[in-house]
Amino acid sequence: MLNIGVLVSGGGTNLQAILDAVDSGIIQNGRVVTVVASKAGVYALQRAENHGVEGVVLAKRDFSSQDELDAAIVAHMKSRNVDLIVMAGYLSIVGDRLIDAYENKIINIHPSLIPSFCGKGYYGLHVHEKVLEYGVKLTGATVHFVNNVPDGGAIIAQKAVAVEEGDTPEVLQKRVMEQAEWHILPQAIAWFCDGRLTVDGRNVRLLP
Ligand code: GRF
Repeated sequence: MLNIGVLVSGGGTNLQAILDAVDSGIIQNGRVVTVVASKAGVYALQRAENHGVEGVVLAKRDFSSQDELDAAIVAHMKSRNVDLIVMAGYLSIVGDRLIDAYENKIINIHPSLIPSFCGKGYYGLHVHEKVLEYGVKLTGATVHFVNNVPDGGAIIAQKAVAVEEGDTPEVLQKRVMEQAEWHILPQAIAWFCDGRLTVDGRNVRLLP
């Protein structure tokens, strides 16, 4: 049974999908032991409380540097014996100290088909605004390991979602969440907790 620590910044719908997947048995060898929010008052913390999971706030502005914030997150996760860190709608930067402490043990969900519409400035609704602006017919979501290139880690899972006539960024975001994010994130976590993921450079292989 692996201990999962979830980093959040907003509504926590991806956190909810993870909690529900543990309850439903989609995730059998992992349990969420702590939720760390980048700011106070986010609904993700309410979701954690509703589920009896510890919620704490580690906000960048409370630390003198990115490195200090990273050190606090690492110390917190280690104190909870966390084996896997999941960034679920997390909007703060993660620095080298955190990435190095959890090499290939941090995964992130990004709401596009990486390498499209990702990197600096591509988060939340901005991603879907750019998707609509460009006029692509397919978008989707990507789960990837976190390395020191924003949205640049080895890809674990992707799922395509159709862009439809008249989509607004909000409508498209919801479809990508419902049809892709809330499915591939729990699935990737289950594969990790089952020990079925191997990483060779940029290639992630799913073992039988
Ligand atoms: C959404 O835009 C999602 O695509 C991205 O973070 C945002 C909020 O997610 N991963 P959540 O509802 O806080 O999980």
